[in-house]
Amino acid sequence: MSKQTVGIVGCGKISAAHLKAWSRLEGFAIGGVFDVNRQLADERAREFSVGRVFETLDQLIEACSIVDVCTPPQTHAVISRQVLASGRHLLIEKPVVTEVADWDSLVELVKRSPGKLAVIHNLKFAHSVRQAKQWVDQGRIGDVLRIQREFLTSATTDRMLVGDKHWSHKLPGGRWFETLPHELYLTHWFAGALELDHVSVIHTPKAPAGAPADEVVAVLRGDHALATVHFSANCEQNRRVFTVQGSHGQIVVDILGDQATLSTTQDAKWKRAVGQQLLHAGRTLLHAVPDRSRYGLERLRGASPHSRAIEAFALEVQGRGEPATPFEEIDYVVRNCDRIGRAIDQQLMALAAKGHTGGMAN
Ligand SMILES: NC(=O)c1ccc[n+]([C@@H]2O[C@H](COP(=O)([O-])OP(=O)(O)OC[C@H]3O[C@@H](n4cnc5c(N)ncnc54)[C@H](O)[C@@H]3O)[C@@H](O)[C@H]2O)c1
Repeated sequence: MSKQTVGIVGCGKISAAHLKAWSRLEGFAIGGVFDVNRQLADERAREFSVGRVFETLDQLIEACSIVDVCTPPQTHAVISRQVLASGRHLLIEKPVVTEVADWDSLVELVKRSPGKLAVIHNLKFAHSVRQAKQWVDQGRIGDVLRIQREFLTSATTDRMLVGDKHWSHKLPGGRWFETLPHELYLTHWFAGALELDHVSVIHTPKAPAGAPADEVVAVLRGDHALATVHFSANCEQNRRVFTVQGSHGQIVVDILGDQATLSTTQDAKWKRAVGQQLLHAGRTLLHAVPDRSRYGLERLRGASPHSRAIEAFALEVQGRGEPATPFEEIDYVVRNCDRIGRAIDQQLMALAAKGHTGGMAN
């Protein structure tokens, strides 16, 4: 069987994870790369021994059956339109668009195109998140009552918050829009389609250029569960945590460490005396030892959330797997990213009107 050829559009930071993943997959060959910055494209091509650097997007589309887009979100709508119109398969980094109107027009093209579409919702493929989902599906924590997502970072550790020139700063809601898809597809996966209830924002004197709303809390609400998302640009801890509280237990997922812990300890007087935290720590340690070994082995084999997400799409393209990102999940993420991003900007404007933003221009 002849190999499917993959073209990578955009040769910045995340493209390395894509090239690594495709080069491990049987039945697929990297047909070439393209970047508006030719030097970056040449460097990536050398690094991954890719034979061809295309001069234009047209050339890449012509030569490849799968187009994998790793450019900034502001460019996604135009590139996607061209790819879908050509009938090629489209894999694209999140956020898939920055305007809902663009998504609506892409949906029409998706319906007509013979090509498949998937968005990189990679955290669904993280070792820890899969473990957490398995626990939830097994009923280990009972009914899901609440999801709590913390993305608490600072310019010291978050490359996208550094300086005042990164493309993410110009997105609706600033830098947070870039990560919002993760928060939304995870919430959707664990608690279903919740509705945005409200967004609260402050602008402190420390707010960096990329996140003028440097503390943000968004609340989503469903019939059975609530979710909160907290963004901070002021936290040196760099906490990226996802907590699922159930009626019988709690799962905490440390996204950066890719580790999930389960607590099903029920309250009892003797446990209070021993120390609930101590009992939990003991159980966590017992689980952590085999878990870290499994995780280490997977990393040694080169598996990552990106590689698994891309593998899922590869199987879908070959007609051997379910959709890597179901349509309703993408649709939910796009529409709620838009709502939250715009709510952040509106709140900032309201704060500015009241003089609470130190004269910050909006
Ligand atoms: N899924 C994840 O965990 C994850 C992590 C990081 C980034 N991302 C996403 O990946 C995308 C790229 O992020 P990045 O950090 O690699 O950005 P980056 O700025 O490092 O790289 C983007 C590249 O795209 C090129 N480019 C810009 N416009 C182009 C165009 N029209 N045609 C061809 N090339 C073009 C730029 O020259 C640059 O080399 C973004 O959508 C981002 O949100 C996802």
